[in-house]
Amino acid sequence: MSHHRRENRIYLVKTFSFNPIFTSKTQHMPMQAKSSRALLNVDDYHQQAKEKLTQIAYDYYRTGSDDQLTLIDNQQAFRRIKLRPKVLIDVSSHSTIDSTSCQTQILNSTITIPFPCIIAPSALHRLANKEHGELATVRAAVASSTIMCVSMRSSVGLEQIAEEYHRQMKSNYPQSTSQLWFQLYIFQNRLFSQRLVERAERSGYKALVLTVDSPEIGNRECDIHNNFALTEGAQSANYNRQLKHDPSLSWKDLDWIRSITSLPIILKGIIHPDDARQALRHGVQGIIVSNHGGRQLDTCQSTIDALPDIIDAIRNEKHQIDVYVDGGIRRGTDILKAMALGAKAVLIGRPILWGLAVNGEQGVKDVLEILKKEFRLAMMLCGCQTINDIRKNNLIIMDNYDHRSKL
Ligand code: FNR
Ligand code: LAC
Repeated sequence: MSHHRRENRIYLVKTFSFNPIFTSKTQHMPMQAKSSRALLNVDDYHQQAKEKLTQIAYDYYRTGSDDQLTLIDNQQAFRRIKLRPKVLIDVSSHSTIDSTSCQTQILNSTITIPFPCIIAPSALHRLANKEHGELATVRAAVASSTIMCVSMRSSVGLEQIAEEYHRQMKSNYPQSTSQLWFQLYIFQNRLFSQRLVERAERSGYKALVLTVDSPEIGNRECDIHNNFALTEGAQSANYNRQLKHDPSLSWKDLDWIRSITSLPIILKGIIHPDDARQALRHGVQGIIVSNHGGRQLDTCQSTIDALPDIIDAIRNEKHQIDVYVDGGIRRGTDILKAMALGAKAVLIGRPILWGLAVNGEQGVKDVLEILKKEFRLAMMLCGCQTINDIRKNNLIIMDNYDHRSKL
């Protein structure tokens, strides 16, 4: 079906040489573009990715579980939060897009990234880019100095992704502050999970992101209709047998995980403030407030709504950890709102896949650049000179919500 759509729609792409965002893109712009409209924002990439992907891949990427209420609410919740700018503040520190004003320190200040946005782990990038898959994504990550969290279910092997990362860092981008993190599910076969962790550590991954919201995969009805599990390309390159997530995984297993790795551990999929406190007491280095992009428990609270209570819950603990958030982030203003509510950085999932589907490595770079530009502008218009001012300025008014920002 999508095949027909693609064949029947061949349009010429207009050039936008007056705008630096588009000069590089036009060279790579796909000829089957839906229209000659420029790709200005993440949603433009989404619409164009829809035209390029097979229906089954598009459905897999886009959809959520059950009635997809959480999927929708993740984005809606950002729209319920309003900004309250401060004016007559010298924001000339943002005068260039490459200025250091958006720089953020994470993981106990061990790493500085140029803007607080990380590539979320997502499975099977070859569905978006058959030839290069995750290799295209990692090249874009290095070029943009962005951290890429590689999914355990990557369609290129974790070692091969790491090799490409090291090659790019060495030859083309020696100044890049990009890092690779490795996302992990724990299998019933614990030994196999341990081997995976060892492989990641040996290959130079710098943190382990343990996803804890998936004792079983959520009820994704679209994928069931599409028989997704049986489609070509839906194979993880890191293992070749059917392995089941371990539903018995519990807090006590964190000690075991800690014993098999020296990497920092970040828990992904925290929504409840009690869990945030537990995580901190179990000595993890970070948590990601996430509901898996609305793909696991439907009607789960949206992530940006969950964030303030989590920040509150750990505020008075002796030591502090990084709190990240993902889900529904599509604009620079969303990133600013997340930071104002206490996140150290955000992760983005689907926007990366849209960029990858539309234009491979360049598409991912462009999506990151768009978000960075939007974020920089949002900071300027809110009167924030540095990342720290986002917290201090009391920017947020929560609308239709039972409490205001607790800054
Ligand atoms: C994901 N996500 C995910 N998370 C994870 O821990 N391991 C994984 O393998 C995957 N795979 C995956 C595939 C696809 C197609 C999507 C869309 C998402 C969840 C991901 O890391 C992140 O939590 C959400 O994508 C964030 O929401 P947004 O940015 O997509 O709205
Ligand atoms: C997903 C799994 C792989 O969300 O995490 O599709």
